[in-house]
Amino acid sequence: MQFELTDEQKMIQQTARDFADGVIKPRAKDLDQTGAFPSDIVKKLAELGFMGIMVPPEYGGSGLDTISYVLAMEEISSACASTGVIMSVNNSLVCDPLARFGSEEQKREFLTPLAKGEKLGCFALSEPNAGSDAARQQTTAAQDGDSFVINGTKNFITNGREADIAIVFAMTDKAKGHKGISTFIIPRDTKGFSVSRLEHKLGIRASSTAQFVLEDVRVDRRNMLANIGDGFKIAMSTLDGGRIGIASQALGIAKAAMEESVEFAKQREAFGQIIHNFEAIQWMVADMATRLDAARLLTLRAAYLKDRKARFSKEAAMAKLFAAEAAMWITTKAIQIHGGYGYTTDYPVERHFRDAKITEIYEGTSEIQRLVIATNIFKE
Ligand code: CAA
Repeated sequence: MQFELTDEQKMIQQTARDFADGVIKPRAKDLDQTGAFPSDIVKKLAELGFMGIMVPPEYGGSGLDTISYVLAMEEISSACASTGVIMSVNNSLVCDPLARFGSEEQKREFLTPLAKGEKLGCFALSEPNAGSDAARQQTTAAQDGDSFVINGTKNFITNGREADIAIVFAMTDKAKGHKGISTFIIPRDTKGFSVSRLEHKLGIRASSTAQFVLEDVRVDRRNMLANIGDGFKIAMSTLDGGRIGIASQALGIAKAAMEESVEFAKQREAFGQIIHNFEAIQWMVADMATRLDAARLLTLRAAYLKDRKARFSKEAAMAKLFAAEAAMWITTKAIQIHGGYGYTTDYPVERHFRDAKITEIYEGTSEIQRLVIATNIFKE
């Protein structure tokens, strides 16, 4: 077992940390308050090669490993969790399935601009009545000669407002259940494809969450990803990788909350002492640090397995489950350490607390992660 990062991984981590601290962090409070999409920051992330980290260079990516992705995601998310999820969705949920299942033509046309960050992607699986139960797709894709005509509604789509390209799941054969789901690559400017609603959210407020309506959206057969009926397996295997991205986002949020708590505890005085002298504070910080390290090790293990092309569904679910719950716990204690100040917008811990909650919900709730872990244990 190897616990040392390579020189390249350390360099990626440092580059991400410098960019996060120098450019993103000073803007994070304002982005949260205004809900403005950080388009200039996303452009700079693209220049750093962070919008297609694991994509091979011949398709515009950085050709790095999943461990580098985790390291970069943690740093970016520690400054701004909204920016973290914008980056994560493009990398894990859009570039990854295109790189794994795309034809040469699809990779040239869609993956390359997405990996370069010239275009932004989104992943449209969830529907008003198909969230955790992803197989219950009601969006339909009816074949008509060499094209498919798609109708339906998609919910909770991260990057939905800004995305140029959507990976859309739809039923090509309802009678076949999950084996009747197929995947389509759809440019957002396709006729009949519109944003019908934008969510107002508790956290990750600078990333958009949209509802799509698809009304007689005609898509050429050559825009289908892999084969007819492959959609559910594409979605599930893509989410395995996505869960490593969200675990890393949770790590970033938790790291920021812990670091701010340590700094606060070093300067705040009460009862004639600096509060870090009190055991009540020390124990909270000790538990924060332990949970954060455990979450990080689980996340790096899942990334390591993915890089080795081993099975990693269970380990990705464990990483996301543990990191998300650790982030929620750590951000709650961070507010506690800050006392009344932590409850105000004068300190960033209230933002971290609000941002942490979504990591227990999207890309599979904590309950779904437990289901994936248990299912994998019983079939081993
Ligand atoms: N990789 C490949 N195939 C997989 C797989 C995986 N990880 N997991 C399951 N499959 C396959 C199974 O092998 C099975 O194949 P066969 O039919 O050939 O045997 C098939 O898929 C069906 O498997 P299940 O019976 O286990 O499927 P299920 O209907 O019981 O669902 C589930 C399982 C785990 C609950 C799944 O539906 C799930 O993960 N739900 C959560 C969905 C989710 O994470 N949604 C988030 C959407 S994205 C988002 O959050 C928005 C955003 O923009 C960030």
